[in-house]
Amino acid sequence: MKHSGLPASLEKQYHTIAQQFQEEHQSPIFIGTSCFGDWPRFFDHFGFGKSVVVVTNPQIRRHYASAIETAFQGSKYSLKIIDIPSGEQFKTMDVAQRLLDSFLDFKLERTDTVVAFGGGVVGDVAGFAASVYLRGINLVQAPTSLLAQVDAAIGGKTAVNHPRGKNLVGTFYQPRCVLIDLSTLATLPRKEMLCGLAEVVKYGAICNVALFDYIEKNLEAIKSMAYSQCPDIWQHLVTESAKAKTAVVTVDQKEAGLREILNFGHTFGHGIETAFNYRRFLHGEAVALGMAMASTAAQKMGLIDDLTKDRIVKLLQKLGFTMEIPEVGAPGILSVMASDKKVRDGRLRFVLPTALGKVEVRDDVPQEIIKQVIDAFAAKASYVAEEH
Ligand SMILES: NC(=O)c1ccc[n+]([C@@H]2O[C@H](COP(=O)([O-])OP(=O)(O)OC[C@H]3O[C@@H](n4cnc5c(N)ncnc54)[C@H](O)[C@@H]3O)[C@@H](O)[C@H]2O)c1
Ligand SMILES: [Zn+2]
Repeated sequence: MKHSGLPASLEKQYHTIAQQFQEEHQSPIFIGTSCFGDWPRFFDHFGFGKSVVVVTNPQIRRHYASAIETAFQGSKYSLKIIDIPSGEQFKTMDVAQRLLDSFLDFKLERTDTVVAFGGGVVGDVAGFAASVYLRGINLVQAPTSLLAQVDAAIGGKTAVNHPRGKNLVGTFYQPRCVLIDLSTLATLPRKEMLCGLAEVVKYGAICNVALFDYIEKNLEAIKSMAYSQCPDIWQHLVTESAKAKTAVVTVDQKEAGLREILNFGHTFGHGIETAFNYRRFLHGEAVALGMAMASTAAQKMGLIDDLTKDRIVKLLQKLGFTMEIPEVGAPGILSVMASDKKVRDGRLRFVLPTALGKVEVRDDVPQEIIKQVIDAFAAKASYVAEEH
């Protein structure tokens, strides 16, 4: 897409997805490779003030801090790089408070800029701090994990966890832009890559059948989870996913309706994550299982045929996701799901496929079918997709 208003020298190197939110608020997504050298020019383009604080974590800092420092040498910006501890357990009010302390120490003003440079944890907590500091300071989301590039950094949700539950405190706050540097995927651990891929498959299944086909066709290359071996494929996956998320969230910024389709696989998925105390399954692994389970429920309700269900389950299996719930945890899943915050009026809501690339939100899935699906995926009777 053209007309991003970027200087021509940058325009050529970036794929731009325009994001228009209410009134004049734009939050474009720029997708490129080896971007650090361009950061100061992007910041000039947006008219940012002179202080830039990059929030990251120690693992990511180790890989990229010197490249960022080099990029800002001799520029008009004064750069600070600070980190928060790595891990979901540090997505807290306490860590957000410490970030606010640092912003005050640095005397950041509203025209200054916070760059959230990391995975979804950094994006959510740094985004939250930026959104409340002086009632909102310039924010750039610079996501480095696949999950953050295709999901967390897009849509303007920020959050910290509360002792009583995940993501219970947060804001809707659009960054000035999302700057996706695909080359950072080269250092992302394989397991994290797989986690992000679950969300990519999700976009294919809910709204982009061409993306789903593309993953099937390029399965062998994708399975290696190695960005450097096939950067063009990963570029396509990230770009199409980012477009899909943008298309949904620009229509429904505050979760009034359409945005709910992004929860495909997440009702069962959250049930699984919680039933195993967030220890046994990473989010993407639970969502992959959840998508297979929702597809099985849809098939049992006659919404899709066996072939469609098997295509979804098989693709997930071939990508390397487990399709087994350890038997010990299976019985707890239903009760956990019933207490999920997505339950409305006591009815569980599921996003179910009605064809590849199409879904429906349903709150009338019979309890008996939910139980059958959980049983079908519990380890003893592990699910195997039939050959066609
Ligand atoms: N705001 C939203 O709309 C939204 C949407 C989805 C998820 N989330 C949140 O995102 C979080 C999960 O994000 P995540 O999966 O990115 O987890 P994460 O931020 O914990 O990152 C995963 C791991 O990968 C490492 N890492 C990230 N990028 C790297 C790189 N380029 N090289 C090497 N290591 C790298 C991190 O240090 C971390 O250890 C959750 O807290 C979730 O609630 C938010
Ligand atoms: Zn998810």
